[in-house]
Amino acid sequence: RDRKKALLQRINDLAKDFFYENLRRHEAAAEARRYLAERGLSGEVLDRFQIGFALPGWSALLDFLSRKGCQPHDAAEAGLAVKGDSGRYYDRFRNRIIFPIWDPVGRVVGFGGRVLDGSLPKYLNTPETPFFSKGRILYGLHLARPAIRERDCAVVVEGYMDAVTAHLHGAANTVASLGTALTAEQGRLLINYSRNVVIAYDADAAGVAAAMRGMDLLQELGFQVRVATIPDGKDPDEYIRRQGIQSWEKLIGEAPSLIEYKLQKAMEKGPVRTVTGKLEVMRQVFPNLALKNEVEKEEGLKAIAGALNLTWETVAGEFKRFEANLG
Ligand code: CTP
Ligand code: MN
Ligand code: MN
Ligand code: MN
Ligand code: MN
Repeated sequence: RDRKKALLQRINDLAKDFFYENLRRHEAAAEARRYLAERGLSGEVLDRFQIGFALPGWSALLDFLSRKGCQPHDAAEAGLAVKGDSGRYYDRFRNRIIFPIWDPVGRVVGFGGRVLDGSLPKYLNTPETPFFSKGRILYGLHLARPAIRERDCAVVVEGYMDAVTAHLHGAANTVASLGTALTAEQGRLLINYSRNVVIAYDADAAGVAAAMRGMDLLQELGFQVRVATIPDGKDPDEYIRRQGIQSWEKLIGEAPSLIEYKLQKAMEKGPVRTVTGKLEVMRQVFPNLALKNEVEKEEGLKAIAGALNLTWETVAGEFKRFEANLG
């Protein structure tokens, strides 16, 4: 198993270098270079993230790997090739911008590939295998570790481009969860570097729903969680490029705490007036409050009372009942 692991690692490393060289030199990558430049990426940041290009055609990578003495079935096991119905292997990643994915200690463990146009799927990733699981890595963490420690804060975004653009502009404490469901394993990867985290997911419905799940999970792991809301339905990549990094750092710096965020969300459509509405909001935030220390509880109860237009005593009474039921 160790030998197999080493072989798959070698294949991933070879593929990463092949994709990287293609993007820089191959004539078939001209459109990809133009695409990336239009999205604000060129030169140094492409190097830092080792961004590459998978050539069109069915076997460019397999041919290259075979010249290096690698078997197609091993490439398939690494997730880089697929076995067709006829039994022949072909390249999984074709005509896509390639984002190598590293584990926290800097080994290439997988890839994400983006189309250059509107075709679907927009991103194709290395499939889940015993050697690779998207839920166990945070994209960019191998680069972000020192900055997360230094700033004592991590920023978690959704996508490849969000992380790359953030790093390009100096927000080097940014990592991406690569999709919408943050896992406990991903959270645990951060805890050695900082206990403060800001979730900055896309402003679309999927992003908000994922943030809601992710924030509770991170708080349960012991993080102080804050949640940023990106104005105008944007994602971090678009926001940073249009508004600039200063606006972004301000948005992150001023992001409300998890409880404040939930209260804001609850009141988005106007003040909560009904008894059932008020009880529902309390039901949503009390579990978060229960994990806090006494000072934070006091502050949280004040915030809830203010938001729901209730007295502190009423909210505190409801919270006491809630905590008693926790046993
Ligand atoms: N994702 C994925 N497969 C898809 C769609 C999304 O793996 N078919 C993951 C990718 O990691 C992607 C992230 O979810 O970066 C966020 O998705 P989305 O917001 O839809 O894409 P963006 O990252 O904004 O992509 P881009 O800016 O390149 O359009
Ligand atoms: Mn999105
Ligand atoms: Mn998304
Ligand atoms: Mn985007
Ligand atoms: Mn997005």
